[in-house]
Amino acid sequence: MSTTGKSIFCKAAVAWEAGKELSIEDIEVLPPRAHEVRIKIYYTGVCHTDAYTLSGVDPEGAFPVVLGHEGAGIVESVGEGVTNVKPGDHVIALYTAECRECKFCKSGKTNLCGSVRATQGLGLMPDGTSRFKCKGQDLLHFMGCSTFSQYTVVADVSVVAVNPAAGMDKTCLLGCGITTGYGAATITADIKPGENVAIFGAGCVGLSVVQGAVEKKAGKIIVVDINNKKKDWSFKFGATDFVNPLELPKDTAIVDKLIEMTDGGCDFTFDCTGNVKVMRNALEACHKGWGTSIIIGVAAAGQEISTRPFQLVTGRNWRGCAFGGVKGRTQLPGLVEDYMAGKIKVEDFITHRYPLEKITTAFNDMHAGDCIRAVINMD
Ligand SMILES: NC(=O)c1ccc[n+]([C@@H]2O[C@H](COP(=O)([O-])OP(=O)(O)OC[C@H]3O[C@@H](n4cnc5c(N)ncnc54)[C@H](O)[C@@H]3O)[C@@H](O)[C@H]2O)c1
Ligand SMILES: [Zn+2]
Ligand SMILES: [Zn+2]
Repeated sequence: MSTTGKSIFCKAAVAWEAGKELSIEDIEVLPPRAHEVRIKIYYTGVCHTDAYTLSGVDPEGAFPVVLGHEGAGIVESVGEGVTNVKPGDHVIALYTAECRECKFCKSGKTNLCGSVRATQGLGLMPDGTSRFKCKGQDLLHFMGCSTFSQYTVVADVSVVAVNPAAGMDKTCLLGCGITTGYGAATITADIKPGENVAIFGAGCVGLSVVQGAVEKKAGKIIVVDINNKKKDWSFKFGATDFVNPLELPKDTAIVDKLIEMTDGGCDFTFDCTGNVKVMRNALEACHKGWGTSIIIGVAAAGQEISTRPFQLVTGRNWRGCAFGGVKGRTQLPGLVEDYMAGKIKVEDFITHRYPLEKITTAFNDMHAGDCIRAVINMD
């Protein structure tokens, strides 16, 4: 029996309010309207941004909401005017949309897109309404994705079809963490052979920067992390060195150590911690005259970065990127092919797997520190 044009009733993990555990509910998912796509989600990853919003410290977080933004599934039905995907396509949801028509998309300078930005930030579809209902209430969407539901509705600019031969338990992770790190190294930094890089923070994002640096034939690939358990992980992904800043001699700062290891400083450094003090160290560990530091980590609300202006006067560059600078619709299918060809490790990141009912355990694992990525089976 076709579900096209009708509401679908399914399970979702609902965040009713800040600071409370997710609760598994039966929800109603309305049919997609014009330029919208309804997706049956098969797998979703759990990312720090989901936990950050759930915790309530994100001042823009609004409730009740269906969180999740690292998801893969199959298109169930499409609304009027949708031409980029069709029912049956294997897809990844995109929290960074790509409309190909706005000033950002046309600039050729950024992967940011302005098309759905305002409503996405409010947790609504582009027409200003929600497609989720539960217990008589509308639920908000999250980052244009809401992958913690067995069915979700997204804007057509926020979804991309990928090779159906790729396992969706893997491709879901290309919806955020892995692509963010890999893209930061290969697209945003576009590292040249022999260049020295340092990566602060060896989570899913940092380790993916490492794999991008390996792909780009970087020289030294130095991982900096305060957790020694990340040493083996770093070498497994191709790092050449590992430094724990807490274990340096008392009078050696991490910046000095990196400058010494790289004969004057790194060509590129990456912050994958979200800590603003680390961001400063990452900038100051760059080579005078040309070194570039890329901020990937998301700092807590209200935090600010600082350094002496002289650091920039003497030629260091400070920049950042979202989703690695990757254009979702144009470039993500290629990354899936790279994964299929063995160029990008994905499976290795999955340390935990759970059914939807156990999603709270995945949040707890993330806070415990030995989890790189937990993948939730939505079936
Ligand atoms: N810009 C984007 O598009 C984007 C996308 C996804 C995630 N993020 C952000 O990237 C960051 C990393 O995400 P993740 O999933 O890899 O996180 P994670 O928590 O798994 O990894 C962070 C790592 O940083 C290490 N660390 C913490 N403090 C440190 C310090 N002072 N010095 C050195 N290492 C330190 C931790 O030990 C851990 O290994 C987060 O801030 C996340 O919100 C950004
Ligand atoms: Zn994320
Ligand atoms: Zn656009």
